[in-house]
Amino acid sequence: KPVQIIGAPVDYGANRRGVDMGPSAIRYAGLADQLAGADVTAIDSGDLAVPRAEERDPETEEPAEGKAKFLRETADVCTRLADEVAGAIDDDSFPLVLGGDHSIAMGSLRGSARDAEIGAIWFDAHSDFNTPKTSPSGNVHGMPLAGALGVEDFADTEWANAPGLSEENVVLVGLRSVDESETEAIRDSDVTTYTMSDIDEHGITDIVEEALDIATDGVDGIHVSFDLDWLDPKEAPGVGTPVRGGASYREAHSALEIVAERDASEGVLRSLELVEVNPILDEHNETAELATELAASALGKRIL
Ligand code: ARG
Ligand code: MN
Ligand code: MN
Ligand code: MN
Repeated sequence: KPVQIIGAPVDYGANRRGVDMGPSAIRYAGLADQLAGADVTAIDSGDLAVPRAEERDPETEEPAEGKAKFLRETADVCTRLADEVAGAIDDDSFPLVLGGDHSIAMGSLRGSARDAEIGAIWFDAHSDFNTPKTSPSGNVHGMPLAGALGVEDFADTEWANAPGLSEENVVLVGLRSVDESETEAIRDSDVTTYTMSDIDEHGITDIVEEALDIATDGVDGIHVSFDLDWLDPKEAPGVGTPVRGGASYREAHSALEIVAERDASEGVLRSLELVEVNPILDEHNETAELATELAASALGKRIL
């Protein structure tokens, strides 16, 4: 199955410019070569057109509800991204979405869940379970999982929702920064969470095998959403919201190799996204480079 690369150069959801350059940085770091090395055929469909934050109409300055910044712009780009992702799957290719900040996951998930029941694995330091009403920052990249699941005030936000995604099939892996405002909503939900402490205790391989069992249970396939800030900032410095104590270089590869292995035997992987690479904050583009390697691991690169 060919891989279709879809760039989403979005920074509306993060409070920093620079993450919109993620797709360029990842391509420049050698994504095409890495994918060729994994023996996959890749078609690059380029970037979605995303107007710069400065270009927006000042009339739309006020958030629609709560204090989510750029929510209308996010809705527009996520709607188009959902169509791209669903279109790729329809064409029998595999969508690989390059962010951009994590707000784009609402588009990826909605597209991947079109005409299908899906699960999701969320590799992230953060739970991204805020809503416009609960968010302490107003940054939409802290909300996409709640948006996709239609949590609380996202219940009627159609563009954000992925109706084919159920909480029972959502697994968060490697958490270490959860806001007070998110804790209750997560406890009230049926999502499964593994913190970094769980990884310390049980090891990355067991945790990811378990996550796969839960995410794939009774669904047509899964979406993997990979926030580069899941890794320790020493390995991935080029992210907007770094948190110490993250996954190591080997743990990250190992996690995605296990996903690839399960995909090879059961064909579970439906879509993948790599988000939050910010080349302005990076050191010699190493976080973007890491993103290209991780894409190859997820798509089945083998050493021998
Ligand atoms: N929890 C914080 C917030 O809601 C940080 C979210 C960071 N999210 C991310 N995708 N990097 O503002
Ligand atoms: Mn995130
Ligand atoms: Mn994060
Ligand atoms: Mn335990």
